[in-house]
Amino acid sequence: MGRGPDHTEGDGMSDDLRDETKLVSGGRRPEWTGPIVNPPIHRASTILFEDCAALKHGAGRNADGDFHYGRRGTPTQWALAEALTELEPGAEGTILYPSGVAAIAGALLTVLKSGDELLMVDSVYGPTRAFCDTVLRGMGIATRYYDPSIGAGIAEIVGERTAAIFLESPGSLTFEVQDIPAIVAVAKARGIVTLLDNTWATPLFFPAIAAGIDLAILACTKYIVGHSDAMLGSVTATPAHYPALRRMSQLFGQYVSPDDAYLASRGLRTLAVRLRAHEAGGLAVARWLETRPEVAGVLHPALPGCPGHALWVRDFTGATGLFAFILDGGPASARAALIDGLRHFGIGYSWGGYESLALPIDPAGLRTATAWQAAGPAIRLHIGLEHPDDLIADLAAGLDRYTESK
Ligand SMILES: Cc1ncc(COP(=O)(O)O)c(C=O)c1O
Repeated sequence: MGRGPDHTEGDGMSDDLRDETKLVSGGRRPEWTGPIVNPPIHRASTILFEDCAALKHGAGRNADGDFHYGRRGTPTQWALAEALTELEPGAEGTILYPSGVAAIAGALLTVLKSGDELLMVDSVYGPTRAFCDTVLRGMGIATRYYDPSIGAGIAEIVGERTAAIFLESPGSLTFEVQDIPAIVAVAKARGIVTLLDNTWATPLFFPAIAAGIDLAILACTKYIVGHSDAMLGSVTATPAHYPALRRMSQLFGQYVSPDDAYLASRGLRTLAVRLRAHEAGGLAVARWLETRPEVAGVLHPALPGCPGHALWVRDFTGATGLFAFILDGGPASARAALIDGLRHFGIGYSWGGYESLALPIDPAGLRTATAWQAAGPAIRLHIGLEHPDDLIADLAAGLDRYTESK
């Protein structure tokens, strides 16, 4: 065959390539693709062995990339996992999960046991908080929430039983950027595991494993899939943590359908160009919102006023299309008038697809360690791939409706 990209597993050879090149070649091994450009979709449960000896040999090896049984995947899933691993220099491997939340749960259950304490950022995604407050609590694992701006001060709250620190930067509702290197330094000095929900930045704008994070989590549902047509999550881990992560996912029977894995692999090929377009559109809309009198604040890490902006400049290589803005004090009904009449923004959860979305957000009830104070109601926007001028015109009409309904 030999028509696929030059690639050998685990040889580290792809580390010197630029991300755009890795996105195109990742996972497209000739032995998986044959003469076809894309890894094919294998639908499989039973995998047949040559003879009893081969069956026995395979069961004993349990290695990545070995055909064994459908639940362990086929080249369709392996190609995606390998492509994601290549985006994180220093990583050993990637486990796929049926959703971002399943990936978060799988990572936490790998590194925590009864009696441990988890330090969790207060700006974390709501369902992650719910998992900690219900499942982990029920297992005797305590969660303590910390201020997203804590930085090196985390050393002062680390306890005897602290086994892991979870970060999400920027927070996906309120967009505080964390001092990840400072927190990682404290964690490493104390032998504490770090986990990062890196869904906003993706490895393109923040390679988490190279920054010292042990387990880098993505809700691939967002920018990796990129077209709002599949749910998927991933955890990419260091050599020290990958074997335990893999073992835990096998014990829980985690599995991703080949169709969804294929859609994610397909989305991945265009990630770099899509992210730059989301970034440009997002910044155009965010800067315009800043000029509007009805807007009390714009929460966008690439804008100087945003909490953690200096950290974003220092640590990240780009911004994606998700941010929020705060209105100047009108009632929630005026916010609804703004959102309900938008032509180009859908009203719905998730983000990272090609389409723009607007979501009313009320972060106050989702915090326990810090207070949320804002001049008025807030709206989270995902800026899709439409022309920003059309989105701005749409939002301008929305702000007029807001003013009329105040
Ligand atoms: C930051 C963040 N992490 C994780 C998730 C969960 O991903 P999924 O919806 O695929 O479970 C989301 C979903 O909105 C998210 O915004």
